[in-house]
Amino acid sequence: MLSGQKIVLGVTGSIAAYKSCELLRLLTKKGAVCSVIMTESAQRFVTPLTFKALGAKEVITSDWNDPEHTIPHIDATRDAALFLVAPATANILAKAAQGIADDVMSAAILARRCPVAFAPAMNINMWQNQATQRNVKQLMQDGAIILGPAAGEQACGDMGSGRMLEPTEIIELLEGAFSPRVLDRCRVLITAGPTFEPIDPVRGITNLSSGKQGFAIAKACALAGAEVTLVAGRTHLKTPAGVRRIDVTTAYEMYRAVMNEVSRHEVFISVAAVADWRIANPATHKIKKGYTSDTPELIFEENPDILASVASLENAPYCVGFAAETDNLIDNARAKVYRKRVPLIVANLVQDALGQDSNTVVFVERDQATPLARASKEQIAQALVAKIAQEVN
Ligand SMILES: Cc1cc2nc3c(=O)[nH]c(=O)nc-3n(C[C@H](O)[C@H](O)[C@H](O)COP(=O)(O)O)c2cc1C
Repeated sequence: MLSGQKIVLGVTGSIAAYKSCELLRLLTKKGAVCSVIMTESAQRFVTPLTFKALGAKEVITSDWNDPEHTIPHIDATRDAALFLVAPATANILAKAAQGIADDVMSAAILARRCPVAFAPAMNINMWQNQATQRNVKQLMQDGAIILGPAAGEQACGDMGSGRMLEPTEIIELLEGAFSPRVLDRCRVLITAGPTFEPIDPVRGITNLSSGKQGFAIAKACALAGAEVTLVAGRTHLKTPAGVRRIDVTTAYEMYRAVMNEVSRHEVFISVAAVADWRIANPATHKIKKGYTSDTPELIFEENPDILASVASLENAPYCVGFAAETDNLIDNARAKVYRKRVPLIVANLVQDALGQDSNTVVFVERDQATPLARASKEQIAQALVAKIAQEVN
């Protein structure tokens, strides 16, 4: 979503200026074309060279003596999709709210035609000061986007509101701003990650699913404007912004959580790698070697089929399943379309997908199979969101 977008990153004189180096790196990695403007104070914290080395197309530090631009504060934001000031000091918020243009940064903010976003960073007292609050309110009334700030420990040792959001959080919010809201207010229920079936209190049967694909889909749905509930098996992944998460361990817990939630949702995407079988008689104490001469025997019983259970409901949501196969990909996936009575199965080969950051998938429906080129799990998530939006709108 940020790919190819021209973004002007404004850096002002806050201790959080070091975070804007990472922010620039992440924006560039996402394919954004970034220019940087720095105030004089910002250059006391980080150097223009740092931003240049991290991939900035240009770094503008003054309106005067710039050999590349006649009028830097006007040229800086030409064709820009966004002017992002991060970190934004109390000083720049005040100047922008008043329309003061006494340096290249404030003049560029005034001269721009693109939207402007500020990520404030300052001491809690500066942030809570009536003057700052008045300026922020004014900026919002003028259409500016205010990102954060977050609360927590501050560089000065105080605790509370005023910390700049982390670069990854800013990127997520920007992606949201740039995403077409193709699933606006659509309620989407997603399962993700592995399930874990206990054998005894310390051991169990699980699988190699990382949860990355399901979490990427949850994020893409949320960015597309959906209200997302994510039922997640055990994973260390961070909950995407704006997503409601329910943690579960076993397949049966996942089944119960889904059946409790499903009636409120219009779309169900079953991405989790759910155990087909559970241990019928898990031991209540740790099974130890040497207690008996017998090798322990595990008795299995079948878990409910979550996707088929949802798809067979009277008012079933639009259902999407995932098929991870080791062979005969399309045939196996199509059999699942019929057996589980779902309109769409996203089929992938186990060896292409598990634990990796990219995947090769085929969208399998009753009458067609559409292969997608190998892509990151985020890109696959976006393609799936576009497909679902087509089907449900
Ligand atoms: C070590 C140090 C850290 C500072 N951190 C902040 C900050 O986080 N937020 C802020 O609003 N001002 C901070 N200031 C004060 C600003 O740098 C000062 O108001 C400056 O005039 C801002 O200029 P600018 O907005 O043009 O960059 C800090 C000053 C110093 C000396």
